Amino acid sequence: MIEKGKNYLVMGLLNRDSIAWKVGELIEELGGHVIYTVLNERMKKIFLDRDFKKVDPEKLEKLDIRFCDVTIEEEVKDLFDSIDNLGGVVHSIAYADPKTLLGAEIHTNDFEGLKNSYHISCASLSTVVQYAQPKMEGGGSVVAMTFQSDIAFPGYNWMGVNKAALEALTRALARRQGKNLIRVNAVSAGPVATMAGTKIPGFAQLAELWETSSPLPWDPVAAKEDVAGTVVYLLGQYSKMISGQTIFVDGGASSVGGFLLDYEKFEG
Ligand SMILES: NC(=O)c1ccc[n+]([C@@H]2O[C@H](COP(=O)([O-])OP(=O)(O)OC[C@H]3O[C@@H](n4cnc5c(N)ncnc54)[C@H](O)[C@@H]3O)[C@@H](O)[C@H]2O)c1
Repeated sequence: MIEKGKNYLVMGLLNRDSIAWKVGELIEELGGHVIYTVLNERMKKIFLDRDFKKVDPEKLEKLDIRFCDVTIEEEVKDLFDSIDNLGGVVHSIAYADPKTLLGAEIHTNDFEGLKNSYHISCASLSTVVQYAQPKMEGGGSVVAMTFQSDIAFPGYNWMGVNKAALEALTRALARRQGKNLIRVNAVSAGPVATMAGTKIPGFAQLAELWETSSPLPWDPVAAKEDVAGTVVYLLGQYSKMISGQTIFVDGGASSVGGFLLDYEKFEG
């Protein structure tokens, strides 16, 4: 389980809808100290401050929040320089321009956008692991977030390509970091209601697809908790011989073909 008193870095907090938030809450519940990263001050103001203003502004004050743009190596380095006694890291970060890289058309000439999207959503995991490693004395665990990439989903286009690369990178990093007793895994979540999720053109259809094909009933809001549970499992000691894997938390949708027939559906 989560080691009490250790620090856990959860990267990619936007608001309380973020997967990062659910993961952080669970780590805290289990006695770990959570350090969140937000992209920058501006994003914090726009999303996090507004979000907490409505409910609990004092809670926001108490959170340990750092800023880090993962495409800027210096920021990643400075972040890890400021952290010790690290038990694990969660990379919950992705971006693709919905106008040029997602949606109805896969063909694009936005190669700058592609590079940026790949850097943020995939290659940054390598930078993060490189600088996290010396801070995880005696070993640790890194978990990245992915979405099923062995088949093509409508509208997911270049993010699907990024996720396939991210899963490959997870394996390569697991191979590289085993000698440091650092494990690197990915959690492949079904569609969950977050800012990044709902920005995907066709997200509603994707969620509908899960409703009609997932053997276990899939709720894009409630499932976030289950996704977080598996992330925390991968951070902790009960998974200490698991590395380089992509673990699906998708209600079983990735393991079946076609739609569920009427007699196969959950009846509540
Ligand atoms: N929502 C879903 O349906 C779903 C499903 C499977 C996997 N995922 C993955 O989960 C992860 C978290 O996404 P989420 O759904 O919680 O959405 P989210 O929008 O809450 O989180 C995405 C985060 O990425 C951050 N980010 C973007 N560019 C960055 C940069 N250059 N440096 C640092 N941070 C940057 C954003 O600021 C944001 O905090 C992503 O990898 C996403 O692809 C999401």
